[in-house]
Parts: sequence; structure tokens; C-alpha cells
Amino acid sequence: MKFKVDHELCVGCEACEGVCPKVFEMQDDGKAHVIVDALSSDFEADALEAEEACPVQAISHE
Ligand code: F3S
Repeated sequence: MKFKVDHELCVGCEACEGVCPKVFEMQDDGKAHVIVDALSSDFEADALEAEEACPVQAISHE
């Protein structure tokens, strides 16, 4: 499973990092970045939870 953050939509609310800091990290541009490429199944549930927690639906996965 691969996650991405749409930086046009991200408003930097930091919810994703709060829920799943192993996958999402706030960087200097004030946006969340995905810091792992392909996700091990260990993190999938947390990453999906982070996707749901985003107030502007900036996170998606495939
Ligand atoms: Fe941005 Fe949504 Fe995370 S607004 S910082 S992607 S929770």
C-alpha cells in the first residue's frame, strides 16, 4: 500500500503526523510528507486512520 499527500489540499493541520508519525512527517514547507515509500502491513491500519483523520481529505492511497 502506498500513501500520498496532495500538497494543494494539505492545510498543515498535523493530524496525520499525530496519528501515524512513522509514515507522515511535517516538513519545512508546512505540509505533511510521506516518509516511507512502500508501507509494511504493520503501519497500514495507522496510515489509514491518518487518512481518515485529515480534515481536507488530502491523503490518498493505492
Ligand atoms: Fe495536511 Fe491533512 Fe496531514 S491537512 S498535515 S495531510 S492531516
